[in-house]
Amino acid sequence: MARKEINKSKVTWDYSPAMESSSHINLKKKYDLYIDGKWVKPSSGKYFDTINPANKEKLSEVAHANDKDVDKAVKAARKSYKGVWSKTTPAERSKYIYRIARLMQERAREFAVIETLDAGKVIRESRDVDVPLACNHFFYYAGWADKLEYAFPNRKVEPLGVAGQITPWNFPLLMAAWKIAPALAAGNTVVLKPAETTPLTALKLAEVIHDAGLPPGVVNILTGFGDTGAAIVDHDDVDKIAFTGSTGVGKIIQNAISGTDKKATLELGGKSANIILEDAPLDQAVEGIVNGIFFNQGHVCCAGSRLFVQESVAEKVIEKLKHRISSLVIGDPMDKNTDIGAINSKEQLDTIDKYIKIGLAEGATMYQPDCVLPKTGYFCKPTLFMDVAQSSRIVQEEIFGPVLTIQTFRTVDEAIQKANNTPFGLAAGIWTDKGSRIFNLASKLNAGVIWANTYNKFDPTSPFGGYKESGYGREGGLHGLSAYVKLK
Ligand code: NAI
Ligand code: MG
Repeated sequence: MARKEINKSKVTWDYSPAMESSSHINLKKKYDLYIDGKWVKPSSGKYFDTINPANKEKLSEVAHANDKDVDKAVKAARKSYKGVWSKTTPAERSKYIYRIARLMQERAREFAVIETLDAGKVIRESRDVDVPLACNHFFYYAGWADKLEYAFPNRKVEPLGVAGQITPWNFPLLMAAWKIAPALAAGNTVVLKPAETTPLTALKLAEVIHDAGLPPGVVNILTGFGDTGAAIVDHDDVDKIAFTGSTGVGKIIQNAISGTDKKATLELGGKSANIILEDAPLDQAVEGIVNGIFFNQGHVCCAGSRLFVQESVAEKVIEKLKHRISSLVIGDPMDKNTDIGAINSKEQLDTIDKYIKIGLAEGATMYQPDCVLPKTGYFCKPTLFMDVAQSSRIVQEEIFGPVLTIQTFRTVDEAIQKANNTPFGLAAGIWTDKGSRIFNLASKLNAGVIWANTYNKFDPTSPFGGYKESGYGREGGLHGLSAYVKLK
């Protein structure tokens, strides 16, 4: 589709398409399960399609693992934990993890393209954010693998055993890296299940892990749906569950493991607040708000989906926001100019559409730029909702799409009260010129991560996780490592 057709807005200009090539990628027509260092057929014989949500074309078929396959993978992980990985010296473990990081870096372009095709996220982000950050997590935890006694001084450090890991579709490769890298560094073995709509980069990671020469059974990758995830959670011989996904499934997992001695880290939903005070540099703030909610189509657990702006500058900020979102380029995620790519699945697009209807029915004022969406594939316009109440469902519930609600406040206390009035507590953003205001707000906001005059910045050394219904446990940094060890 010509760029002109996509963007008819007055404030935009036409770009020539700048398509990333997919000619260099190597995708098999069909993927089996990666168990015990081998590709094995699923015991049910069943496979399912994974598609490109930007054009609905089938990319590949992947196996649907059932409880028998899960059992096979857990047994392989246990065997290699006892027989090989726990006996591998920390320095050797570190070398393997470095090797994974370097091989991923060498194949970075292939990973980025496959991520974009499978998930619908824009190539600029897969290329500049997802893949480099995933590599950096492996590099970072490789560094800890042979320094565990310095990470936890004066303690005896032991691995937990077999880790069951279940990842979502919004950052498929990055979430796999967040989970696998610290698990291996601490000496655990892994059974990982990627999300059903985005299994391909985890399968490519299995290839990298294989090429890195990891002993069989140390990492096992099983594709499938919720039933596969549940079979991992319910397996008696799994010592730890690491889950990122919806709060609903997080609660199911928590119930399923209660009464067992399985450890868990749950990274769940969010409804994070971005707060603009009147002394903030407004253009910079608007850019950060746009990045906070429209980055990755709003498919970000810590998306800044609620904006609170001080009344004296509200009108100005809303005008600037409307202007800015009118210049966002929506379209083919493989085009390097695209700002907003495809919604990950029809189900997710239906959810977002449902919430847009709810917002309108609740009496909110909606703004969407005057742009034309591509005809095939799942796309959604960037959407602003003004005149919303604190009790509105679109203010309280996670939408997981490019939808921003905007509320105003007069005093800082009012902003804090409103920002904290949600069942979630994953992240928050503060925009002000004054350091003292940043410290005041940061100490009173109930959120696991707080950014000041920036948003959505990640680093492997920095822990990430939530308060309240956003889950518990931390990933990243030393905290992320401690979730995979027993300290004596
Ligand atoms: P989901 O929570 O169902 O899926 C996440 C992962 O859990 C997938 O790998 C899925 O196969 C697996 N899973 C599903 N049911 C399971 C079960 N009973 N036991 C074990 N594993 C299970 O998320 P879904 O349905 O794809 O998205 C629904 C909503 O969840 C989104 O609209 C969004 O609000 C939220 N979400 C939040 C994410 C986050 O990063 N916190 C990521 C993805 C979705
Ligand atoms: Mg897909």
